[in-house]
Amino acid sequence: MAIVNAKEILIPATEAKYAVGAFNITNIIQMEAVVDAHVEMKAPLIIQVSVTPSKFLGQDVLAAVYSTIAENVSIPICLHLDHCREVDYCKSCADMGWTNIMIDASRLPFEQNIQQTKEVVDHCHALGGISVEGELGTVSGVEDQVVVAEDASQLCDPEQALIFIEETGVDLLAPAIGTAHGVYKTANPKVDFERFARIAEMVNGKSARVPLVVHGGTGLPEDYVRKLVALGGAKFNVSTDLKHTWIDAVHTYISAHRDEYDPGKLDVYARNSTKDKVKEWIALFGSAGKA
Ligand code: 13P
Repeated sequence: MAIVNAKEILIPATEAKYAVGAFNITNIIQMEAVVDAHVEMKAPLIIQVSVTPSKFLGQDVLAAVYSTIAENVSIPICLHLDHCREVDYCKSCADMGWTNIMIDASRLPFEQNIQQTKEVVDHCHALGGISVEGELGTVSGVEDQVVVAEDASQLCDPEQALIFIEETGVDLLAPAIGTAHGVYKTANPKVDFERFARIAEMVNGKSARVPLVVHGGTGLPEDYVRKLVALGGAKFNVSTDLKHTWIDAVHTYISAHRDEYDPGKLDVYARNSTKDKVKEWIALFGSAGKA
């Protein structure tokens, strides 16, 4: 049914207090699994690809597969470039039909973050229909090429968030609030809910303007996820959990069928395992039936 940008599916999510899952994929079968789960649960979807897998699979190939799939299903789907530090690569994905672009200049001084983010925003908005996500503060952990040590991470300053939005015209904001990429080292990670609430109030007080993104979904306790969604987390990122699901499924299948040489059966098993896992996240995000 629909090729959409992220902003248009996240404004209603912000207002009705559910989250749209943004799932990182590293191959086409994972992409199909994520889509199937959302079609079955009638949920809007953001497919995410980090820079390394996008270069491996091909930014043009991904754009073509995405548009073919999105035009043939009954739910809105966005294709998002995740954590890209290269302004030119951001622009080239937008040129090819990716519909949400994340320029991650969060490691740079504030003024440079503004400048790079604005450059990508201007390009995407001139093309029409492409939204842009920016990050303020730094999320710790590892996501593809972005590696931030825990003691080097910095939380988002709410006052700066407003200036950042005004000066860049960015469509979505990912504020660092203590969540982390990868597996949490503790069962109760330190997440600054108050800071997140303050940012949500300042940015989307009376009506949704700039939907908020939560990074580091994997391993967050379910009550944390529900609380962040209730406070205005409209785009919820999940990557590591799908990587684990995929590798574990492949390992399980091959261990049980060591003498079988039928890749199709392995693909079906890994695809179904991924689909089941994604459905659990959709239920948690409250996005079922919203498409
Ligand atoms: P996790 O790998 O912790 O799920 O984080 C995903 C993410 O935030 C991608 O940008």
